[in-house]
Amino acid sequence: MYNAKIKGLGFYVPENVVTNDDLSKVMDTSDEWIQERTGIQERRHVVEGGDTTTSMGVKAAKVAIERAGLDKDDIDFIIFATLSPDYYFPGPGVLVQRDLGIKTVGALDVRNQCSGFVYALSVADQYIKSGMYKNILVIGSEVHSKGLDMTTRGRGVSVIFGDGAGAAVVSRAEEGSKSGILSSHLHSEGQHAEELSVIAPGMGKRWVTDIIADNDTEDTSYFPYMNGQFVFKNAVVRFSEVIKEGLKANDLQPQDIDMLIPHQANLRIAQFVQNKFGLADDQVYNNIMSYGNTTAASIPIALTEAWEQGKIKEGDLVVLAAFGSGFTWGSVILRW
Ligand code: UT7
Repeated sequence: MYNAKIKGLGFYVPENVVTNDDLSKVMDTSDEWIQERTGIQERRHVVEGGDTTTSMGVKAAKVAIERAGLDKDDIDFIIFATLSPDYYFPGPGVLVQRDLGIKTVGALDVRNQCSGFVYALSVADQYIKSGMYKNILVIGSEVHSKGLDMTTRGRGVSVIFGDGAGAAVVSRAEEGSKSGILSSHLHSEGQHAEELSVIAPGMGKRWVTDIIADNDTEDTSYFPYMNGQFVFKNAVVRFSEVIKEGLKANDLQPQDIDMLIPHQANLRIAQFVQNKFGLADDQVYNNIMSYGNTTAASIPIALTEAWEQGKIKEGDLVVLAAFGSGFTWGSVILRW
């Protein structure tokens, strides 16, 4: 068995900054409400004709590959997590293979929303452990802004989400190395699938041709729906459970955590988790203030920033944890 470690990290966000005041010009909301309920001050939105989920993923990936000291031809598998693919199909994994000019390696798309990056890392870990691959490119990227209901009707959701991408190169660690991914823990509870969802353009609801023919502007099934308070209540419980599960599996205590990177869903959720485990401010990294909730991209963006700022050092115990639509949740425990 081999150990899998993160060898390179990168992120990319579009230049266009959208402040809370900008949003209050197009819907009935306020900077005060958004900051108080979510901690978000601003987020990035792509512009017309600008970045896509794939192009941002590619930009983040290039940085991660370079920092790993590798060449694109060293990548032997691609995993792409997103809920906002460029196309309904094919998924963006193959588009990355094409746009990076990587040889015909396998490309897997992960559909686990906010937990997407944690799920993707877990898959990469298993492929490395089994010896099947040596260098796996793992990407989380999202363009939310094009799919949001930017009217007062959608304000409970639209103010939260932002666009961006993060990437990691997961590689086989040197023999005998104690660093790398120690374990991953994944869960789902489909009973609550519709509580945070985009129902269309799935084939389950209506004939897509009917919606188009009706020009049905009342049909909100293309927009994300979230039962905010219900999701919030489940999130704080599941985040805590899955971090505890990860620590226990490795015989560790909360005070052993050097850096917790929670999925950036809501600053209040992250603070709840921080208090629950008695962690100091420098043991948790948050950047939701600047980027909003970027779902599958949020953990790799935050992880990259924390690492760039020197907040993660060799030997540190790093915990990643996520919860989101599905419901799905999970944690990854790493020794840096
Ligand atoms: O990343 C995946 C996981 N996602 C999450 O974990 C998100 C979890 N949920 C949340 O973060 C919070 O529930 C929200 C931030 C989405 C909402 O905060 P809340 O404190 O739960 O507010 P609420 O939905 O209960 O709404 C309170 C009030 C309502 O008005 P009334 O009925 O009290 O008159 C809403 O209509 O706030 C109103 N409201 C807004 N007001 C101004 C909802 N959205 C907005 C808005 N601006 N953007």
